[in-house]
Amino acid sequence: MKVIRVDDYEALSKKAYEFFIHTMNTTEQPVFGLATGSTPKGLYELLVDEYKQKKQVFEHIQTFNLDEYVGLAKDHPGSYYYYMYERFFNPLNLDQKQVNVPNGLTPNFDEECERYEQKIAEAGGIDLQFLGIGVNGHIGFNEPGTSFSSRTHIVELTKSTMEVNSRFFETKEEMPNKAITMGIKSIMGSKEIVLLVNGEHKAEALKQTIEGNVTEDFPASVLQKHPHVTVIADTDACKKLQAQ
Ligand code: PGA
Repeated sequence: MKVIRVDDYEALSKKAYEFFIHTMNTTEQPVFGLATGSTPKGLYELLVDEYKQKKQVFEHIQTFNLDEYVGLAKDHPGSYYYYMYERFFNPLNLDQKQVNVPNGLTPNFDEECERYEQKIAEAGGIDLQFLGIGVNGHIGFNEPGTSFSSRTHIVELTKSTMEVNSRFFETKEEMPNKAITMGIKSIMGSKEIVLLVNGEHKAEALKQTIEGNVTEDFPASVLQKHPHVTVIADTDACKKLQAQ
């Protein structure tokens, strides 16, 4: 795993943006795996700025989001579709055909999981997958204990994840307790992965990801097994790493 240390969140977003642009400009039909949450917001803002200044075109890209809550409609402000629509799909003027988010309202979850996997395969796989990390080591919504051989599946969210994520909802009761997520094997199938980590609250998680045992009890540790992973982490997140 390659680790790029940066001073702060601004520098992290800029570095992530450089990875995005590089893949976009060197791949014929670039396919991006995208994450939600607080961490990638700066990356999306920089990309939207580029588009507005007409410096880059995005009409040849395809995107797949990692996950979505079960039970939320696309227009629910807490849904990941809504998050992506507001920050990325709409400002970049992306066509519906270019973007993919699991359907959390599907009447048939098995079929939806299968469809999502197939769609990724039909696109030729993901060229560059961006990931955030949960304090418990989750990637996507793959909580501790998820099998490394998992594909897109339905998950029960842990109490800790629900507590952390309830900040995006008006009331705690609105917070869904299930999600649909790409599995560990789906994520590991990406050609390249960039993990973004910022803040002191993620320092322990980053340490375990890079220096800990590879174990299903800490999902992000699986990244040690991928040949092309870059971690972009700020100084605060790196505080607990051995080699300072
Ligand atoms: P965050 O979430 O970017 O909001 O910290 C990351 C995650 O839970 O995967």
